[in-house]
Amino acid sequence: MRQLKIVDLLRPHWKALALGFLAVIGESATDLLQPWPLKIVFDNVLKSRSLHGHGWLNHLVLSTVGNDSLAILRFAAIAALAIAVAGAICSYTEKYLTTSIGQWVMHDLRLMLYSHVQRLSLSYHDHKQTGDLISRVTGDIDAIQSFIASGLLGVLINSLTLVGMPIVMFYINWRFTMIALSVAPVLFAVVYSYTRRIKKASREVRKKEGEIVSVIQEVLTSIRVVKAFAREDYEQRRLEEESLESVEMALHARSLKAKLSPLVEIIVAVGTSMVLWFGAHMVLSGDLSAGSLIVFIFYLGMMYKPMQELSKMTDAYAKAAVGYERIREVLETRRDVRDLPGARLAPPFKGRIEFEKVSFSYEPNRPVLRDISLRIEPGHVAALVGPTGAGKTSIISLIPRFYDPDSGQVKIDGRDIRRFTQQSLRRQISLVLQETLLFHAPVWNNIAYGKPGATRSEILRAAELANAHEFIEKMPEGYNTIIGERGVTLSGGQRQRIAIARAVIRNTPILILDEPSTGLDAGAEKVVFDALNRLMEGRTSIVIAHRLSTIRRADVIFVVKDGTIVERGRHEDLLKSRGLYSELYELQFCETEDTQHAS
Ligand code: UTP
Ligand code: MG
Repeated sequence: MRQLKIVDLLRPHWKALALGFLAVIGESATDLLQPWPLKIVFDNVLKSRSLHGHGWLNHLVLSTVGNDSLAILRFAAIAALAIAVAGAICSYTEKYLTTSIGQWVMHDLRLMLYSHVQRLSLSYHDHKQTGDLISRVTGDIDAIQSFIASGLLGVLINSLTLVGMPIVMFYINWRFTMIALSVAPVLFAVVYSYTRRIKKASREVRKKEGEIVSVIQEVLTSIRVVKAFAREDYEQRRLEEESLESVEMALHARSLKAKLSPLVEIIVAVGTSMVLWFGAHMVLSGDLSAGSLIVFIFYLGMMYKPMQELSKMTDAYAKAAVGYERIREVLETRRDVRDLPGARLAPPFKGRIEFEKVSFSYEPNRPVLRDISLRIEPGHVAALVGPTGAGKTSIISLIPRFYDPDSGQVKIDGRDIRRFTQQSLRRQISLVLQETLLFHAPVWNNIAYGKPGATRSEILRAAELANAHEFIEKMPEGYNTIIGERGVTLSGGQRQRIAIARAVIRNTPILILDEPSTGLDAGAEKVVFDALNRLMEGRTSIVIAHRLSTIRRADVIFVVKDGTIVERGRHEDLLKSRGLYSELYELQFCETEDTQHAS
């Protein structure tokens, strides 16, 4: 299990961070120095008061520049400019570096999360809302990125400035500093208590946003169903409810934030007026130079900014922290199905498949398969038949380890498949799933998905074997035709044949077909099964079929009912034994008779 630490993400960028750190120090220093040329001019050139001579700075200025007013003025003017330029350079460097670090961390995090999500077990994806996962891979990562870009060093600048100012103020006049800073604890208390509440509120907002994305995503991916059942209004209302809740939550969070900055402002204003009041008195009584009062007022004015920014950053931080937690939650999800410590690369399979007392459930206490034992010899064709919901798809899902059985073993060539790495196991299995998913890409790519790097001639051959070549050629751009996201521009049978071609091209010792003829008419089915018969030669094949006429020639037929195998054997033997199989067969046989009579 990988543990995500922010430090690990930042480590590769330590050079940039170190440079950024220097820039931050420069930025804070120039911030602090800003009012000093003014002070020098006020105290030494305008001479509102005789020099108190506090500070090495005044001494330094006087000893290097001399007592000449004009020289001091020139020095102060140049210093003001120099401070501004230095500040600008530091600020640019810091912003550039933090932005680039933020972007790179986002990139790394995105890849890390995506790779993890893709490898998580199917049982995780079965339960997780896709939209929520999408918002974690996009929104939450973005929150972290923007915090790193604006907050990570920004916190430092503002804190340094905030700490530096009192130090300088103490140095000038500690008693006056106490007055000026008397509001600080109140300020701190307010900011702290609000930050926590804001953080909680933003977490809820983000969660709701994830749910909204889920709703939209769900509807858009099943838009046909929505339209077919004219449920647009219902879906609209469903989104409206979610959206209203999100508005409410966002407003709550926003109102917390909106209360914070005015409160801060008022508290700072109280401080400023106290400084003005007492400061002016002290200047008049000669306890403080006018230049020093200017520094104080300047600092107080400036103190408001870093405080406000820090309090803004708590928001960015809250978002990032929530995002970080949500991302960590995903990254720390263990895979139910994972490579065992000693897992090895699977050797080339001969193709004997065995189930030994396999029991399996998708959810605890709801067994789907019970005590399944079966054996399929290398090169044989096995068929699974049985009523819908009997557990046929579940049985074959265990072979490529989409799920692991609760008890019992699945073996290939006599070895438990858990001893092989998942990739090396799956590489030797071709699947045609019950539900065909095609990618929004040319036909070429959709077929070659089964075998990256397949040559054109391989693709053509696979298409021919799958009886798909003919109709592909007739499409507007042949193999270059882009087919829709879920293959919507193709008929069911065409889609199925492309899926078969995708499996064919892999040329694996084990072939699994989950109802490859779903939705095909008898003619089309014959075409597909001709293709499959050619394909199944010399491989261990498992076919799930509803139409029993198509599997008469199977070497062994397993009849599945309620999660167990109730009959097994060859077609003729099963017919003779007059069990469930013969019942099903006769039912279908009559049906075909009827339809033949009808037509
Ligand atoms: P199967 O999907 O294995 O049944 O589900 P099947 O034999 O292939 O059915 P058809 O012919 O394609 O229709 C077996 C049981 O497992 C449950 C289903 O509710 C069913 O009762 N199941 C299936 C889950 O609980 N979770 C799943 O993700 C899939
Ligand atoms: Mg099924």
